[in-house]
Amino acid sequence: MQPELTSTVAPPAKPTRTELLRRFLEAYWLRPENAFWMTLRSMALGQVPLAGPAADLCCGDGVFTFLHTGGVFDPAFDVFSAVDHLDDVRDQHSDMFDCVNDAYHPPIVVRPESRIAAGTDHKAALLAKAQRLDLYDRLVEHDANTTLPFEEDSFETVYCNAAYWVSDIDGFLKEMARITRPTGRVVLQVKLDSLKGYTLESHRDSLGDRFLDIIGRGRAESWPSLADRATWESRFVAAGLSVEEATPFITRTHAHIWDIGLRPIAPILVRMANNLSPQTRTETKRDWVDLFRELLDPITDPGVDLFPRTEEPGEIQYVLALR
Ligand SMILES: C[S@@+](CC[C@H](N)C(=O)[O-])C[C@H]1O[C@@H](n2cnc3c(N)ncnc32)[C@H](O)[C@@H]1O
Repeated sequence: MQPELTSTVAPPAKPTRTELLRRFLEAYWLRPENAFWMTLRSMALGQVPLAGPAADLCCGDGVFTFLHTGGVFDPAFDVFSAVDHLDDVRDQHSDMFDCVNDAYHPPIVVRPESRIAAGTDHKAALLAKAQRLDLYDRLVEHDANTTLPFEEDSFETVYCNAAYWVSDIDGFLKEMARITRPTGRVVLQVKLDSLKGYTLESHRDSLGDRFLDIIGRGRAESWPSLADRATWESRFVAAGLSVEEATPFITRTHAHIWDIGLRPIAPILVRMANNLSPQTRTETKRDWVDLFRELLDPITDPGVDLFPRTEEPGEIQYVLALR
């Protein structure tokens, strides 16, 4: 079915870099390394006009896109209040966010100025969360390894920041091309397999398997389509897409900081935070966000790289046209 809304997603009213970082930190405070990565991702995406109707594939709970398009939550809101399976996160790699309850209603201070015509994800609970943001006209539960549930030429912009999670990547890219209008663009933000080198893996002999297991927590297994830049670009060609712009926005330095981060202790931090009294949680979060905003401010410079030689980036944004 053709999505009806044809509104153009206006470029977001641009907050300063510091303000953007603060908004992402407030939402993702217990994973500050994700907050700075998303800030960099949003800054790169802010350079591309997301003409409507736009699709957000693998949109998850929609919080990234809500913040990217200029939405502002009350500072009390964060993604860690509605979580489950905390005991299974570390060893069974469960997704703590894959749940929703009736109390989940993110308090919205400013709505994004425009809407997204369609969002998809294979997790129903994440889509139920996205629904409560009132940002998407249509949300569809869908496995990206199968035919997309949209007619051809449906969208002016097809955006996805999770393509490397999809096993049938060639089929997925072809499907993206099919649903994009001849005048439209596919905008992808893809991780590169250089990330595998931007870890402590080369120190396995001295650190041991368990150390790297605790730090990694099964990340790489979630990314079956991770590839180098040349492979991504040949996949685009095979799918009938041509590269119009390629913008690296994660350096080796960003990737190394993110590699350690607070990932291993996140379930424990979340449990601790959610057992605080509301007042103590609010005060603790405020001080935490203030500190990390200052600490991470220099890191949210897309060019920051503390290594002597420039290496492959960790993530690239591609703007792709139909060939
Ligand atoms: C890292 S999250 C990104 C979510 C969202 N785009 C964001 O920026 O917050 C990856 C998302 O891809 C979804 N995903 C992974 N594999 C998928 C598949 N085969 N089909 C549909 N969605 C998938 C996950 O459920 C998750 O929401």
